[in-house]
Amino acid sequence: MLQVEDLSIAFQTAAGPLSVTRGVGFSIAPGERLGVVGESGCGKTVTGLSILRLLPRRGTEIRGRILFEGRDLATLSEPQMREIRGRDIAMIFQEPMTALDPVFTVGEQIGEAWSTHFPGSRAEVRERVIDALAKVGIPLPARRHDEYPHQLSGGMRQRVMIAMALICEPKLLIADEPTTALDVTVQAQITDLLLEISERAGTALMFITHDLGVVAEVCTRMITMYAGEVVEDAPVDDALIRPRHPYTSGLLRSLPRLAERRKQLPSIPGRVPTPAMMPPGCRFRERCAHAAPGCELEQALAPIETGRRVRCARATELHLPGAIA
Ligand SMILES: Nc1ncnc2c1ncn2[C@@H]1O[C@H](COP(=O)(O)OP(=O)(O)OP(=O)(O)O)[C@@H](O)[C@H]1O
Ligand code: SF4
Ligand SMILES: [Mg+2]
Repeated sequence: MLQVEDLSIAFQTAAGPLSVTRGVGFSIAPGERLGVVGESGCGKTVTGLSILRLLPRRGTEIRGRILFEGRDLATLSEPQMREIRGRDIAMIFQEPMTALDPVFTVGEQIGEAWSTHFPGSRAEVRERVIDALAKVGIPLPARRHDEYPHQLSGGMRQRVMIAMALICEPKLLIADEPTTALDVTVQAQITDLLLEISERAGTALMFITHDLGVVAEVCTRMITMYAGEVVEDAPVDDALIRPRHPYTSGLLRSLPRLAERRKQLPSIPGRVPTPAMMPPGCRFRERCAHAAPGCELEQALAPIETGRRVRCARATELHLPGAIA
């Protein structure tokens, strides 16, 4: 359904073009749930935004192809793209308050998302919105319909965002850290809700998150991003139990749940290189405990097994610890 091919994004800055992703490629099948993980600054959000063409036009250079149901999104006009946004592909963000307009009721805002794509009388739209609110588990949906965002808790606002994203029953939902602004208990509820909706409606998910526990629970595939590149792409169970890239393994080892059994939380030494200071060769090399001669060369994202690709010279020879060590 979605195919991202060789996507490279660069921003124009005073110091010249700054490349933030390079050669990113992955695909999402109908109903598939793809987790996208990686430390801060790895390019997860810009990749998600580029799919919906939401990056600033000026000063952004995008290369590669994004195919949705066979159509290259870059070739569509802005009105054609607006047709797709919300109806076929929807996105939810980390901070629900910034995405909701304080001066309109939640019902008006969700209704607008529907009316942009489909005709209907006011009464019909209202009924649909109330139904959407009920589907995302909002109690007393008819009353909430007429309330303003500030009258709702953070968890309820995120549910409103999800209702707005899902009202047109999109084929793909891109969720960018949808729970990080919420309490831990509410996080679990929202995560469960997204999984339930995806299973019930067959909605494909691109779930961007720092939380590998969430990926384990929700997703069917996972890509690991590092310094603007995809370094591993695998079915979730394979990636979690037997990671093939040292960075994926490092992320798994720093999962808090696993560390409880250990004395100290193992963390990956060093930090992600900044786009302006990208090292040559394997971009993870300076932090990698397995670096060896050959790693100073550029690494390709190479298939190593069916349905699995890894960007590491030593992928097939290393035995790396996963979530179940
Ligand atoms: N408009 C922009 N102009 C210049 N640089 C940008 C812009 N937007 C993002 N970047 C840079 O692109 C890189 C990737 O950013 P991105 O937001 O995609 O990271 P991320 O993986 O989503 O991180 P996080 O986990 O913190 O959300 C970062 O180095 C960021 O500073
Ligand atoms: S290519 Fe070398 S440095 Fe890079 S992740 Fe693999 S082993 Fe580590
Ligand atoms: Mg982000």
